[in-house]
Amino acid sequence: MSSLFPISCFSVVVPLSSFCRCVGERPTSTTVVLPVLPVSCPTNAVTRNGAIRSGQNALDPRGRADRAPPFGRHDTFRVSSHPPTLCEIAYPEYAANWETAVADAKLPLPTRLALEALDPRNVTLEPEYYAECDDARFQKVKPLLWLWYSFDRTVLGGQNVQLGVDLRRLLAKHIFKRCGENFKAFQHVEFSFGYNMEVGDNCVIHRHVLLDDRGGIVIGNRVSVSDYANIYSHTHSIVDQKDVTDAVTRLDDGVRITYHATVLAGVHVSEEAMVGALAVATKDVRPYHVYVGIPAKSVRVKPNAPESATKLTSIRERRSS
Ligand SMILES: CC(C)(COP(=O)(O)OP(=O)(O)OC[C@H]1O[C@@H](n2cnc3c(N)ncnc32)[C@H](O)[C@@H]1OP(=O)(O)O)[C@@H](O)C(=O)NCCC(=O)NCCS
Repeated sequence: MSSLFPISCFSVVVPLSSFCRCVGERPTSTTVVLPVLPVSCPTNAVTRNGAIRSGQNALDPRGRADRAPPFGRHDTFRVSSHPPTLCEIAYPEYAANWETAVADAKLPLPTRLALEALDPRNVTLEPEYYAECDDARFQKVKPLLWLWYSFDRTVLGGQNVQLGVDLRRLLAKHIFKRCGENFKAFQHVEFSFGYNMEVGDNCVIHRHVLLDDRGGIVIGNRVSVSDYANIYSHTHSIVDQKDVTDAVTRLDDGVRITYHATVLAGVHVSEEAMVGALAVATKDVRPYHVYVGIPAKSVRVKPNAPESATKLTSIRERRSS
């Protein structure tokens, strides 16, 4: 089986020994080095050949002090598209011979297809169909996005908070246009392009959040986006579905978008504002206000709001201030 479409070779080397801070370069078309992936893993949970013994919580973040990486014999692992790093995580038994395994007619076809799909070059992600997709930029981040999404669906990754948060923090620095300090994302977060994300310091993105950055999403500092929320930055004409408008969506410092809420394209949620559970923010949200409902309306002003936040002004005035 051959790769279905070519992308430039991409490689990320991740030493597992220190696994804590990302100090690498932004990805180029060839190589990026991510020096650290922190893994908390009691030594006695790792067999000599690197496999994790069944029945042991090898990646328990409360693991003992005598820790070793789960990939035993390796002190680095390579995030590459050929052979795919995901193979080491999802099908370690094929990691050493992935290339021959995908071509091995004796293996069941579903096994070979599953192995082939570990290589992002054999997968088309939805954003690649979007007219405004910048292919050169997307192909650079695609292997990292594919690792992010696929890792979340593995037994190793999925629900493991510490390992997942550390890996995503590492990847975000190389996927986003800008990613501040202490970024925290839980499992099953999805992006459109990823490269149109700008994120400040100390932001938290909870489970199952969709960050549609087609038109760009700019997130300030201390922003929290709760479970199942959707932040959009593109919309479609009601007449012609193919007529897409991109618009930057902004969540300013201290904003909280709560459970299952949706923020539509181009909406500016101003500092310290809150969008309540299940709300749909169709228009700009005023600073320090709490908006709820569909369409979202202000139901209160936070008690810590400065006087300016309680003064009613037109959107035009607020935009020019
Ligand atoms: C938006 C929210 C914070 C409002 O809390 P609050 O300031 O204590 O407001 P109240 O509960 O006093 O509600 C004020 C009014 O808005 C209504 N309301 C509150 N939340 C609502 C929501 N999500 N959708 C629709 N109406 C809502 C209340 O019924 C009440 O209406 P009433 O005046 O007719 O009785 C809260 O309801 C919410 O959605 N929380 C989400 C959970 C959360 O905090 N997540 C953060 C995780 S990071």
